[in-house]
Parts: sequence; C-alpha cells; structure tokens
Amino acid sequence: MTAKAWGLGLGAWAWVGLVLVAQAPSKSVKAGVYTAAQSDRGQVLFRSKCASCHAPNRFTDDLFYASFAGKPLWEMFDVISDTMPEDNPASMKPEEYVDVMAYLLKLNNFPTGNTELPVGKDALSAIVMEKPFD
Ligand code: HEC
Repeated sequence: MTAKAWGLGLGAWAWVGLVLVAQAPSKSVKAGVYTAAQSDRGQVLFRSKCASCHAPNRFTDDLFYASFAGKPLWEMFDVISDTMPEDNPASMKPEEYVDVMAYLLKLNNFPTGNTELPVGKDALSAIVMEKPFD
C-alpha cells in the first residue's frame, strides 16, 4: 500500500471514530442520575398506574435488560410513554413518565444523585441504561 493510501485509510477511520464518539451517551445510570424524592413520586405513580399489570420484578429481569440495557434511556422513555399504561397509552405527563423511570432505576439499585432525571430527548439520549451487576 502506498503512503498516500495509508493516509486516506487512517483518515477515514478517525472520522468513523469521531462520529461514534459524538453519538455515544456520555453518562451512565450508575452516576446518580435521579433523586430519591423523584423515585418516591415514581413509586406512588407505579402503584396506581402500572402495578395492576406489572410486578416490580418485571423491571429487574433479563427480559427487561434485553430490551433496554446498553441503550440510551430515551429508548425506555419512548417505549413507556408511547405504549404504557397498556390500557391507556400516552395518558401521563412526560414528567410522570420520567418519575416512574426513576423508580425503575431505584428497583435496580442504581444510586440516587442531586439532580432529577430530566425530561427531553437530548438529555435522556445522553444517559445509557445498564445492568446493575455488570
Ligand atoms: C393494562 C395492563 C398494563 C399496564 C397498566 C401497564 N402495562 Fe406495561 N406492559 C403490559 C403488557 C401486556 C406488556 C407486554 C408484555 C410484557 O412485556 O410484560 C407491557 C410491557 C411493558 C414494558 C416493556 C418491557 C420490556 O422488557 O420490553 C415496559 C417497560 C412497561 N410495560 C412499563 C410499564 C409502566 C412503567 C407502566 C405504568 C406507567 C405500565 N407498563 C403499565 C401491560 C401493562
């Protein structure tokens, strides 16, 4: 391979790397991304809006991780806010959906922090869901 071809090849890889970095979520759910007060509100909502169909351990099982672990929290928000509660989809406020998500994070023993889990696509896209025991 000529020196010029090498240069082009490296340039292309550096570019791919930049694009990947730009899209990767910057924060983990292990970094304290919700508050205790928020997950308490979420628990109250969970009991009234979700518990009739879901036991809490539905959100700490492999099926749940298969759907959401390794993905931005926005994906979880998108699914829940579009399709749940199944008997009345999209009936809650965005703030209520993120409060319920804070409770789901608490069920997984992720630590609380000083700032609430935010509403909004950009903010939720920046946080990645993980398995608690990885
Ligand atoms: C009327 C029944 C019902 C209610 C109420 C309900 N759900 Fe569901 N939900 C389902 C069914 C059925 C499914 C699909 C089967 C499954 O994944 O358990 C589901 C699936 C889900 C999933 C996808 C899980 C996965 O691993 O992909 C999430 C997340 C979820 N529900 C969250 C909620 C939350 C949060 C609430 C309360 C705001 C709620 N649900 C209320 C019936 C309900």
